Amino acid sequence: MSDGEPRRLIYGRQRGPKLKPGQRRRLETQLPALAVPLPPGGGRLVPASLHAPGTGALWLEIGFGAGEHLAWQAEHHPSATHLGVEPYLNGVAALLGRVAARELDNVRICVDDARLLLAALPDGALERVHVLFPDPWPKRRHHKRRLVNRRSVAEMARTLVPGGELRLASDDPDYVTWMLAALRAEPRLSWRARRAADWRERPPDWPATRYEAKARAAGRTCVFLRFVRRREEREAENAGVGR
Ligand SMILES: C[S@@+](CC[C@H](N)C(=O)[O-])C[C@H]1O[C@@H](n2cnc3c(N)ncnc32)[C@H](O)[C@@H]1O
Repeated sequence: MSDGEPRRLIYGRQRGPKLKPGQRRRLETQLPALAVPLPPGGGRLVPASLHAPGTGALWLEIGFGAGEHLAWQAEHHPSATHLGVEPYLNGVAALLGRVAARELDNVRICVDDARLLLAALPDGALERVHVLFPDPWPKRRHHKRRLVNRRSVAEMARTLVPGGELRLASDDPDYVTWMLAALRAEPRLSWRARRAADWRERPPDWPATRYEAKARAAGRTCVFLRFVRRREEREAENAGVGR
């Protein structure tokens, strides 16, 4: 990506096989009340406008696919607002179906490019960020399409509150190496792994997604990464400030 403001760059599908009438109906009737539109002209969102009534923390899931993980987290963490960003309309309709079935009132949805949403979020707005199985774009000439890179990691670090957590998963070894390089180069983040099981095993409060199930069925190994946004003193220490 070039320097300056991120542009809307959505490489995957925005529509899959034709939307079924039920999916279209959900998008028309249910989505408007939950939608988080991006402010025009690259402005910042006001955090209070994002929170569902009665909730405190704001969690973000980037590229939620069919929304099974987001809906599970919303059900198990009702005191947080669960904001999902996903440009794929069939996936948005699938999440809306889960929201209705479980009567969830703490979900918000941004149908757009995650990079634009991140740029619109104020510093420290998020307590959690989830990026589960982002498209790996394995060909070298497509690496620039990867959602996780130094710039987006810096945005995730900026928008996380100190002590907040960033969770990522992938089944593509090359993308895992690429993500780790970007994550470990970001001074505001610290990797929580202390032993191999920490990245080989998915914690119990992290349900499997559809993509993970597909990867396992195909015999691929999945990697689970958990980083924490450092508290300010540690940042200053690492940067050698005050020595
Ligand atoms: C491989 S799928 C994984 C879906 C889901 N997280 C899972 O684990 O099943 C990647 C998802 O990222 C979404 N995606 C692609 N580009 C995106 C972007 N710029 N912003 C937000 N989501 C994006 C895709 O539409 C797709 O749903």
